[in-house]
Amino acid sequence: MDTITPVLRDSNLYRYQGFCFFKELMPPEYIDSLQNFKIKEDDVFMITYPKSGTIWTQHILSLIYSEGYRNGTEQIETSERIPWIEFQFLHKNDHNSRPSPRLFASHLSSRFVPQGLKNRKAKVIYVMRNPKDVIKSLYHFEAMAAFAETSPDFDHFFMKFLEGDVFAGSWFDHVLGWYKHKEDFNILFIKYEDMIMDLRSVVKQICTFLGKALDDESLDIVVKKATFNEMKKEPLANKENMPEEFFDSKVGQFMRKGTIGDWKNTMTVAQSEAFDRIYQEKMGDVDLHFTWDMN
Ligand code: A3P
Repeated sequence: MDTITPVLRDSNLYRYQGFCFFKELMPPEYIDSLQNFKIKEDDVFMITYPKSGTIWTQHILSLIYSEGYRNGTEQIETSERIPWIEFQFLHKNDHNSRPSPRLFASHLSSRFVPQGLKNRKAKVIYVMRNPKDVIKSLYHFEAMAAFAETSPDFDHFFMKFLEGDVFAGSWFDHVLGWYKHKEDFNILFIKYEDMIMDLRSVVKQICTFLGKALDDESLDIVVKKATFNEMKKEPLANKENMPEEFFDSKVGQFMRKGTIGDWKNTMTVAQSEAFDRIYQEKMGDVDLHFTWDMN
């Protein structure tokens, strides 16, 4: 096992092989054990850097796979249907006894996911979002999540993010790690902004990748139920059932704004320019392009 180092700006986290884990919730022995987690060929993993559209995509997958969820007759928590592989304590069920196809969610980097995913048969959907909006969204989330250490102000958080001293570590390492190793996986990359601009097309793309043929009527329902306004109304999608020791709904709501470009309302010009320089340095030669605002 590599050395474990505490993260300087956030005492709730430890850094392990470039990734930042929550100390209390994610012991390194468990994370290491995931390497040998037995993958089935029809498993589907949905992977994101935090605040990139995780719940949204979980919700979409639930709607695609479960007719009962689509027609409102089944009240199963999305995170039970699509459990986190790295947050073992959250789930009562043994993954091995779950019926196939098994759907999983994860924030892990490509380094930590089960080796069996590299058989290129099991499917991976990686969702990414422009990092300036990720910063803004994560800043708010940190304030409402009881397990995260709240930053005194946005400036402090901004530095913490740039240093990768947040859960999941550096955004750049996460996205580049997955993107540069794409040949190792059977992977579909989707972007939050594309979902905002044309949700139906992205849902269709997901269905094609998964080999799930939905008729037009079902597709319409998935798209309608996955809009921000619909999900905001739905207590399970909005995580209203989570205990207060996890999320303090008095501080904020999980379904916060759901837009592109909200970073402009908080980030200063100097911060934005500093971010652009770092982005250029790290991502300049990568063929990935983000939509930064609605214009
Ligand atoms: P904001 O904080 O910018 O509003 P994650 O699930 O990865 O933690 O991401 C949460 C972000 O996704 C939040 O962003 C949340 O509002 C947004 N989101 C969730 N469902 C959405 C939807 N149906 N449409 C648009 N944005 C959505």
